[in-house]
Amino acid sequence: KQRVLSGIQPTGELHLGNYLGAIRNWVEIQEDYDSYLFMADLHAITVPHDPTRLAESTYKVAASYLASGISLEHATIFVQSHVPAHAELAWLLMCITPLNWLEDMIQFKEKAVKQGENVGAGLLSYPVLQAADILLYEPDKVPVGEDQKQHLELTRDIAARLNYQFGREDAPILKLPTPMIRAEGARVMSLTDGTKKMSKSDPSELSRINLLDSPEEIQRKIKRCKTDPIRGLEFDNPERPECTNLLTLYMILSGQTKDEVAKECAEMGWGQFKPLLTETMITALKPIQDRYHEIMGEPGYLQQVLREGKERAEAIANITLTKVKKALGYALPV
Ligand code: TYM
Repeated sequence: KQRVLSGIQPTGELHLGNYLGAIRNWVEIQEDYDSYLFMADLHAITVPHDPTRLAESTYKVAASYLASGISLEHATIFVQSHVPAHAELAWLLMCITPLNWLEDMIQFKEKAVKQGENVGAGLLSYPVLQAADILLYEPDKVPVGEDQKQHLELTRDIAARLNYQFGREDAPILKLPTPMIRAEGARVMSLTDGTKKMSKSDPSELSRINLLDSPEEIQRKIKRCKTDPIRGLEFDNPERPECTNLLTLYMILSGQTKDEVAKECAEMGWGQFKPLLTETMITALKPIQDRYHEIMGEPGYLQQVLREGKERAEAIANITLTKVKKALGYALPV
């Protein structure tokens, strides 16, 4: 079986972008792959974080994976910081990564601007740790949202550089991963500005729907989300980014095709569409929320899942780490 790997940072609540851009796709393909899915808690401290909430967020994300339909029959779920090989390989890769590759990363530049003086070296090296996360497991595919594309390209560049500097042409050390970015849902936009992506770090709660939002919260957010004064709803009009975004959400969550939705909504006004979207969203999220609360209510269950996940992940990660250390000429412990 081929292998996939992906992860999410346990910072704040998961939102519809995380679900539609990542988790839902993991669920859809899981039967055809061995999946390695983790909580990127080492990445979570590259921006100022609250230590009283990190562990809890990590469990919540794990529960959200399971609640969304990830099955332990196909998937290994683990915590990044439980597998020390991630940090260790990240260091080795850091030493072969040119500084200007990191300075050019879009996400770094965006976050660095937001944080002013608070830019740690971790924020700059963030994508190198992500490269380590990926390369350790030699995945065939990495299913992510559109915003991770550049990090995936960097991962390939780092792997190719290591192979070139320390490997033989006929026996590459690291396997180059391929991103898997779905057309639909790869870039869910903010509810308050259709030109910005939905994000955990947007200060306005109204900008996003969280996976665990109550029906009342969903209703309130959709009611207040940004629209436009034009009658009739349509996809792909560049003047109407909010319209495309909301129709896309409706399309995915109702399981219809683009043509079906375009026809159904062509003559609608916002007053008719918003309640329809609200209902569809509430109905789609309800089963996930129910399972989530069941899982969180079962004492010891997640700990057990993560303990087993750590063991399985570590077994693979350590093999790759040893391979890299050998190639770099380390005296391995005997
Ligand atoms: P994070 O935690 O920001 O996001 C997790 C996943 O959700 C996707 N995503 C979106 N998709 C569509 N629309 C949006 N508005 C949206 N917002 C977020 C992201 O693309 C991602 O797939 N660097 C990663 C975490 C990570 C990782 C890895 C991922 C660390 N190591 C190794 C893959 C492989 C991140 O920041 O995700």
